[in-house]
Amino acid sequence: MANNSGRRIYNFVETKKAAKPKDVKTNLNLNKETNLGSGEYDDVYKEHNSRYRKWRGIPDINRLENYVLQYIIGQDEQVRQIITAIYRAIKFKSIKTNILVIGSSGTGKTETIKQIAKRLNMPYTIEDANQYTQEGYYGADVQDMIYNLLNNANQDIKLAQQGIIVIDEIDKKVSRDDQDISGTKVLKSLLKIVEGTILKISSLADPFDEAMVMDYDTKNNIVIFLGAFPGLEKIREKRLNKNPLGFSAAHEKVENKQKRYLKSDLVEYGMPEEFVGRIDTIVEMNKLTKQDLALILKKSKLSIFRKYQAELRKMGITLSYSGKLFEAIAEESLALDTGARELSSTVNYIFENIIYDILSDPNKYKLCTLDLDIVHDNTKYKLS
Ligand SMILES: Nc1ncnc2c1ncn2[C@@H]1O[C@H](COP(=O)(O)OP(=O)(O)OP(=O)(O)O)[C@@H](O)[C@H]1O
Ligand SMILES: [Mg+2]
Repeated sequence: MANNSGRRIYNFVETKKAAKPKDVKTNLNLNKETNLGSGEYDDVYKEHNSRYRKWRGIPDINRLENYVLQYIIGQDEQVRQIITAIYRAIKFKSIKTNILVIGSSGTGKTETIKQIAKRLNMPYTIEDANQYTQEGYYGADVQDMIYNLLNNANQDIKLAQQGIIVIDEIDKKVSRDDQDISGTKVLKSLLKIVEGTILKISSLADPFDEAMVMDYDTKNNIVIFLGAFPGLEKIREKRLNKNPLGFSAAHEKVENKQKRYLKSDLVEYGMPEEFVGRIDTIVEMNKLTKQDLALILKKSKLSIFRKYQAELRKMGITLSYSGKLFEAIAEESLALDTGARELSSTVNYIFENIIYDILSDPNKYKLCTLDLDIVHDNTKYKLS
């Protein structure tokens, strides 16, 4: 029976017997993230998940905000919106919170959530929507997410039920074709966690023991969808041209709200209405400008440039460079449309020869001077 959830889970266990080895528990879909070139993440991740987490109370909202802004640059309003939605979920348990974050590659969607979850000491899991297909295992995918979360919560079901489920690349699942089994139907199966329902979860210790099936309540899980939604802007533009608003100051506010993405834009984009209807916060990330990228290099705790600088300092080497270097790196990195992602490859390029020289003769140098041209030619430096 389709609505007999206990039986469905049992079926799921049966059908997936072969495909469900123990390591499913550690399958965290992090393949994309580990390629970042930003070592910080791995460390954060290990630290976050290896410790047993206890609910130790959460910091004041503005403290958390200030903390996140040490990492995330150029998204102040967005960070505040996300934090507020998360705090609302934590403090007002009766309100289910589902957040959609829209933004192009490398604008800080994933990183913002990671930093928040890390500071709040909350279990979280980042799932890649691309891996979720129908494949005849109806409902199984949602269960996988819960397993991952449970694992990150050290099997503490109470803790996991308060955790964050991040579903990345959700836009890839949007399809105008109702029969599309890997698209729309997957979105609809996600309604289970979006709505807040009791799922029957079979025990990880013994998935075949029906007596061990647990109730898992998704009511307090904070669900955050991420996606780039290429083309969505066009839909908004069309809408704004159709309803020209705001000739007077009195209309200003209305206009601002209209300028945000509306649920109707998402429906027009192809998202099922019942899915969109359950999203309560839509956040649109800023596109990062050259100045933002330069500021990331200069100030962010994620700055790969600062990491190189710190490593060289440990070896007794001071780095000397023009204040314009950050802008030059930013400009070079802006050429590709991958936001802050490209910064690490540009900076890695800059330090390639330098690292080789230093490691060839570790105690020889005290000063490393970078020429502005090093951005294009990584032989333009002096070691002394
Ligand atoms: N606003 C930002 N401030 C500081 N660093 C940033 C920002 N955005 C991105 N970064 C850097 O770029 C890396 C990649 O960012 P992130 O993973 O958040 O991208 P994303 O928006 O999720 O993009 P994608 O759609 O490609 O997954 C981060 O680990 C971080 O080092
Ligand atoms: Mg991402």
